[in-house]
Amino acid sequence: MVNIKDIRASNAAFKASKHSVIAVFVGATSGIGLATAKHLADASVDPTLYILGRSRASATSILDDLARINPHAKLNFIETEISLIKNVDTACDEILSKEKKVDFLFMSPGGVTFGGRVESSEGIDVGLALRYYSRLRFVHNLLPLLDASATPRVIAILAGGKERELDLNDLECKVNFSAIRAAGVGTTQLTLAFEELAKTHPSIAFIHKYPGFVNTGAAGKILDSVPGILAIPARLVRWLILPIISLFFSTTPEVAGERGLFLATSARFPPNKSDTPGVTLPNGVKTAESTIITEGRGNGVYTLDENDEVSLDTSVMPGYRSDGTGKIVWQETLAVWDRAIGRSA
Ligand SMILES: NC(=O)c1ccc[n+]([C@@H]2O[C@H](COP(=O)([O-])OP(=O)(O)OC[C@H]3O[C@@H](n4cnc5c(N)ncnc54)[C@H](OP(=O)(O)O)[C@@H]3O)[C@@H](O)[C@H]2O)c1
Repeated sequence: MVNIKDIRASNAAFKASKHSVIAVFVGATSGIGLATAKHLADASVDPTLYILGRSRASATSILDDLARINPHAKLNFIETEISLIKNVDTACDEILSKEKKVDFLFMSPGGVTFGGRVESSEGIDVGLALRYYSRLRFVHNLLPLLDASATPRVIAILAGGKERELDLNDLECKVNFSAIRAAGVGTTQLTLAFEELAKTHPSIAFIHKYPGFVNTGAAGKILDSVPGILAIPARLVRWLILPIISLFFSTTPEVAGERGLFLATSARFPPNKSDTPGVTLPNGVKTAESTIITEGRGNGVYTLDENDEVSLDTSVMPGYRSDGTGKIVWQETLAVWDRAIGRSA
């Protein structure tokens, strides 16, 4: 566990080092992404921030806040619905045309909602796109800019360490869909895809974090989405019990944002190729253990819990690593993207 005192010491050291960074935030119009963007704006000298969101109008106050926090920040808002792969490509083309490198790609879009499978015009379940297919498309498209950075990090806030069994014949949950199952499939594919990409991009650190219960309003949205007869108890829980649970058991977005900045900047998470890019570790905090270690060297992929401690592997992961499931997942992902782009053309 990394305690908040050490997180704050590390973030203060980053601020004192007067770094300038270029960061892309997908899903930072609220919640953990927004809180992290604010901390990064505060702690860096003249950052360039790309914030992607669905509504420029509702992002105005967010951009004003960021400009107040750091008047030297170069703020770019890209208005886009990123559950569509073609929109991800357009947004990435804009970033690729303007920047020579990207230091951090921070992704936290979406959330779990109950109800059925909602298919986009590209044939992908919207929730699964936000959790997996679109996130990985951002990573894939921005790899040249990440590779050009001295300290590149890809950070996904979802459910690292909660990987589950996959049905390789139904990775898109077309045959057997439930909200919980789709959430698990996105989580597992995300970790496996990070491990595949780390093999060919050893200078990038890949972090998949489960944030724990953060009081961003996401839990309320989940309960609001429960359909049918269960909607009544779900609404009761939402209005009577959730406020009490939130009071005692949740983290604030503010603290989650401090942890987000730590993930982006601390030397605790080295990539495969390099030992110490990032802020020197506070006393007592150790380098994290990668998901795969070969001949004493980590692969630079980390699955983390809410306290930024490394998660233990779930029972499925060792087998998936030895039987090549990651490669199958990645090939299937490329095929889903091709199909999606084909439909949009
Ligand atoms: N909060 C928790 O307790 C918790 C626990 C476990 C896992 N997680 C996961 O962590 C991630 C971040 O959680 P959070 O609580 O920070 O979420 P949040 O506050 O609900 O923020 C989600 C972000 O995703 C964006 N988004 C949603 N649909 C989009 C779309 N179609 N196109 C573009 N942007 C879209 C939202 O933008 P708009 O403003 O456009 O809606 C918002 O910026 C989520 O994936 C969540 O499932 C959260």
